[in-house]
Amino acid sequence: MAKTTTFSCSACSATHTRWSGRCDACGEWNTIVQNAPLSAGPAKKSLGGKRGQSIVLSDLATEEAPPPRTLCGVDELDRVLGGGLVPASALLVGGDPGIGKSTLLLQAAARFAREGVKTIYVSGEEASAQVRMRARRLGLEDAPVQLAAETNLRDILTTLEAEKPGLAIIDSIQTMWADNVDSAPGSVSQVRAAAHELTTFAKRHGVSIIMVGHVTKDGQIAGPRVVEHMVDTVLYFEGERGHQFRILRAVKNRFGPADEIGVFEMTGKGLAQVTNPSALFLSERGTPSPGSAVFAGIEGTRPVLVELQALVAPSPHSQPRRTVVGWDSGRLAMILAVLEARCGIPFAGLDVYLNVAGGLKISEPAADLAVAAALLSAREDTALPVDTVVFGEISLSGALRPAPQTENRLKEAQKLGFTAAIAPAGGKTGTVAGLTLTRPSDLVGFVGETFGAG
Ligand code: TYD
Ligand code: MG
Repeated sequence: MAKTTTFSCSACSATHTRWSGRCDACGEWNTIVQNAPLSAGPAKKSLGGKRGQSIVLSDLATEEAPPPRTLCGVDELDRVLGGGLVPASALLVGGDPGIGKSTLLLQAAARFAREGVKTIYVSGEEASAQVRMRARRLGLEDAPVQLAAETNLRDILTTLEAEKPGLAIIDSIQTMWADNVDSAPGSVSQVRAAAHELTTFAKRHGVSIIMVGHVTKDGQIAGPRVVEHMVDTVLYFEGERGHQFRILRAVKNRFGPADEIGVFEMTGKGLAQVTNPSALFLSERGTPSPGSAVFAGIEGTRPVLVELQALVAPSPHSQPRRTVVGWDSGRLAMILAVLEARCGIPFAGLDVYLNVAGGLKISEPAADLAVAAALLSAREDTALPVDTVVFGEISLSGALRPAPQTENRLKEAQKLGFTAAIAPAGGKTGTVAGLTLTRPSDLVGFVGETFGAG
């Protein structure tokens, strides 16, 4: 029978076939431990001859009603949660330091507490007095939230067990210290152990637990990534530091659609929800200018209109610059290549800058055509008509593919006062009154119709 004993590193969790003093993968010393096999062949040989207990199996069909969810009343948050907070769920809210996670969660804690959910806010980063000061600034000092400044996980869990809250917020997972794990707070094994304990506790005791996780810029793995698979819901709080807009994005949700976003604005009195993000993202748009195109996108279940800005200028460098904010740089390279190969429009020797206005990050392939429109408009120094939205996917052959939910995009555009749309032929459009639709079949056709001969 094959040998099943393995070894793993407690710092980076790489597996090894032999014990050694130093982990080859991460270079840490004395971190390799033996993994005891849970079940290896005949029961006699596994776990020192002990057999596990049989577990009770149940049917897929159930008479039970789905667990009631609690709405906090902030639509932007409730929607991202998939329609309110699910009892006994474990959530992770990740984001860059200073982006506003503690602010968001203190506001959420106050909301849920006022809805009658017993709420405990544990800060491992700030003293209770600091949290209280922030609450006062946000006008939340009278909300029935219980505070603690603590990092010892064992004490926290004991307290939660006694207090039986409906919601506990742990700010942040990187500051928690599980005394059964022999490494410093913030290390991978501590973060993982703490998240595991908290997630299991949430299920077992019926407490919803929201953990805060800092994302580190240098791609450190001790960030939230190592706990994403354990929790039910992963939300990321994004935004540009200089911008006041903040986007709460569901990247994983066992209880609702992923990719849903909530839009907030950071004000002097905390985060305010933005119920009409399209109007906000377009509000900075002035007179028609070359390099600007309005993309009719879909974020989660909601259409969002956003301005794409491009700048194309002769490059003084031998290797021209390609700079992208809010979109994928690989995808930009692809669009430039397709424009060159299929339409004969070269970008060699030109610096290209692309920016998604308002600090939004978009990942939809449907933005391709709007990107192409912005690039061409910048390159030709010709403004696109100001009342036109653009969307559609570009394939490598230069063909255009219709985007999903075409009708929703058109309706949103019409609602915001746009009178024309350019979108690939095909796909269900329905009829949207007052909107002139141009439907190019390929990129060459689009360039010809929009920019003359190209
Ligand atoms: P914070 O919630 O502490 O960030 P995180 O927990 O993600 O590290 O927010 C920090 C920033 O938010 C800080 O730079 C100040 C700003 N802020 C406001 O602009 N308005 C406010 O009302 C509050 C409380 C914070
Ligand atoms: Mg914080």
